[in-house]
Amino acid sequence: MSEPLPSPGPRFVAGREVGPLGFGCWRLTTASTDDAAHLVETAIDLGCTLVDTADVYGLDWGGTGWGTCEQRLGAVLAARPGLRDRMVLATKGGIDPGVPYDASPARLTTACEASLRRLGVDHVDLYLVHRPDLLAHPAEVADTLLSLRTRGLIGAIGLSNHSAAQTAALEHHLGEPVAAVQPELSVAALGAVRDGVLDRAMRHDTAVLAWSPLAGGRVTTGEGLRPALVDVLDGIAAGHDTTREAVALAFVLAHPSRPVALLGTQRPDRIADAQRALTVRLTRAEWYTIVEASEGVALP
Ligand SMILES: NC(=O)c1ccc[n+]([C@@H]2O[C@H](COP(=O)([O-])OP(=O)(O)OC[C@H]3O[C@@H](n4cnc5c(N)ncnc54)[C@H](OP(=O)(O)O)[C@@H]3O)[C@@H](O)[C@H]2O)c1
Repeated sequence: MSEPLPSPGPRFVAGREVGPLGFGCWRLTTASTDDAAHLVETAIDLGCTLVDTADVYGLDWGGTGWGTCEQRLGAVLAARPGLRDRMVLATKGGIDPGVPYDASPARLTTACEASLRRLGVDHVDLYLVHRPDLLAHPAEVADTLLSLRTRGLIGAIGLSNHSAAQTAALEHHLGEPVAAVQPELSVAALGAVRDGVLDRAMRHDTAVLAWSPLAGGRVTTGEGLRPALVDVLDGIAAGHDTTREAVALAFVLAHPSRPVALLGTQRPDRIADAQRALTVRLTRAEWYTIVEASEGVALP
């Protein structure tokens, strides 16, 4: 008999409590500031208080170019005074299309300054290096990030898509653990569960921001997922009288590293539907059944 897993507890990012579901702006490419404002306000009202964006967002997903998602979010913040204070605002830099990564001091500094200009804010609460620049020494990346923090441009420092070893190297030079990591994490992407990224986060009490928690929509379409995984999710959903998506999000939220699942939908009704995940308490056996179905291998 397997009991429901305990609730992992509150999430803190950059010293502030945030909801277990966050809102991601990768696909915030609507042409209308009003529509975008409605979406962001709905997310915040529903408790998705961690808002994540990046300078590169807008280059794909129907966007019109580099920086346009930050610009759109900046227009929302300008149109809705008060919204900024209700969110923990995170953005990312260090991608340089065509290069493709540059976290050198000059580049990362100008990237952060440009993000703040587009967002129309004097600081962000969290700034993450988007992907590891293999040619940047962690000492110079750490110096750059500390300098941005000393200047008051960023509140806390984070890393996205970095291995546990890359995180450890940067932390050594920072002289402190990073405040947040942002790995891919979903029923279809379990790498961070096993590669040490979440273990390191738990060791240092680092916040975990899970990107593409619904596998970029593939949990719904089933595309690229093992059919057995879809069957398992649907069976568990039926048992809990809920949806496949709610089970998939509950799976992410149940990890003891207390991930914040960054929702990527651009539909207010789907942000509301996602809240169903917060009432799903998976059992330990259900959680491991999902792992087995995802990996296609029975656990020993
Ligand atoms: N650090 C990184 O490298 C990285 C990479 C990727 C993403 N991210 C972050 O993670 C955030 C979320 O990523 P994501 O957009 O891939 O997340 P996701 O929530 O896994 O996927 C969202 C996508 O699924 C679609 N979808 C289809 N059915 C859905 C349903 N029933 N409920 C909800 N969504 C459904 C959505 O379409 P509709 O809009 O039509 O609902 C949307 O296109 C991004 O905004 C970004 O902040 C970070």
